[in-house]
Amino acid sequence: MKKTVSQATSLSGTVDLPADKSISHRAALLSALGEGSSRIAGFPEAADPQSTLSCLRQLGVDTEWREADGSLRIEGRGLDGLEAPDAPLDCGNSGTTMRLLAGILAGQPFESTLTGDASLRARPMERIAAPLRQMGAEVALTDGGAPLRISGTDRAGPLRPIEYELPVASAQVKSCVLLAGLFAEGETTVIEPVRARDHTERMLGLSVTTQDGARHITARGGVPPRTRPWSVPKDFSAAAFFLVAASIAPEGDLHLPGTGMNPSRNAFLDVLRAMGADIDAQHERTKGSEPRADLTVRPARLQGVQVGGPRIPNLIDEIPVLAVAGTCAEGRTEVRDAAELRVKETDRIAAMAKGLRALGATVAPFEDGLAVDGPQPLTGADVNSQGDHRVAMALAVAALAAEGRTTITGAEAAQVSFPGFWDELERVTGG
Ligand code: S3P
Repeated sequence: MKKTVSQATSLSGTVDLPADKSISHRAALLSALGEGSSRIAGFPEAADPQSTLSCLRQLGVDTEWREADGSLRIEGRGLDGLEAPDAPLDCGNSGTTMRLLAGILAGQPFESTLTGDASLRARPMERIAAPLRQMGAEVALTDGGAPLRISGTDRAGPLRPIEYELPVASAQVKSCVLLAGLFAEGETTVIEPVRARDHTERMLGLSVTTQDGARHITARGGVPPRTRPWSVPKDFSAAAFFLVAASIAPEGDLHLPGTGMNPSRNAFLDVLRAMGADIDAQHERTKGSEPRADLTVRPARLQGVQVGGPRIPNLIDEIPVLAVAGTCAEGRTEVRDAAELRVKETDRIAAMAKGLRALGATVAPFEDGLAVDGPQPLTGADVNSQGDHRVAMALAVAALAAEGRTTITGAEAAQVSFPGFWDELERVTGG
């Protein structure tokens, strides 16, 4: 699918954002392992969280969408109630589905296979296989990735608890090990030298201590997640596209109510403000385990910024749209220490460099990041999402600042996290 986006002079109104994707995956998985019924308000229609649901259904979990109150009901099966799937579990494009589910499947007394689309099959899975093997699971990869076969069948009894120091700052790896820890005999501790998003430990209510600057997160085996009604904030990562779009527009006033404000997720807000963005956060509140606020953003003159070090995992998904902000900012915007971008849904450094250059930007890609010089006059062109949802949406934001019209091929990729993106963009730009 192609989308054509024209230069915009104003963004105003209220954006209807999807519920947070990371939290929704976890709410579904934890509900499935709980004892009793759970409700998740506003569970997203986006393809990634729906992949988690369809895998859970294949594992015997009953789910029901209730139109009346827009919530999803999940019947928990407890820690030992999942059923062996009769076919490979298709995780679609979703790394979170595959890596978190792998932790749960490692603890099951049956064999299962996880697979996904071509992008997901190309992503590295040794990072989860290594700790799961240490815990006693059998994990067979295909060329270091999926399809991956997981078996607990040859093992008598539960998994072995481990203490595992993360070699890569990854919330997916952390969560995989902690979820496997629910099926281990005793306490499993993940040591996290650099803090990645912390939804799993918040939602499971795990104990977290800090030693020598590293977080130690401990899961106790045999304790099922508590069932409850989950209230999920709006997705900060989805909001990020509109925060930049409304900052670089000449006019407007845009509202993003109920946006997630978890500090392990929203470092991009601090970066944008450091660039000079005019973003107001009101009614900060915490519902359930996650903070949220109502954001208002207005146009501003942006300055270039340098970003690297331990903040990177807290804004990793926002770097494609940060590069777009860089094209409109005075001076150089440079991102370093972000080599993980090379192994996301696509190589996001290469994809953004290519797309922004096609629009006339000067971009220097590095192995671990990129630099953009601004402000640059952008001109509409044909660009490609490379099948990556965040690249599609970031290039759409760049298109709003480009003179004339930009055609984005592979625009359907936005379905993965934000199916309403194109409609919302059209509505708030009056396009
Ligand atoms: C996610 C963790 C991050 C992030 C991804 C979602 C999660 O990936 O990029 O979009 O929900 O745990 P890594 O764990 O690979 O850093």
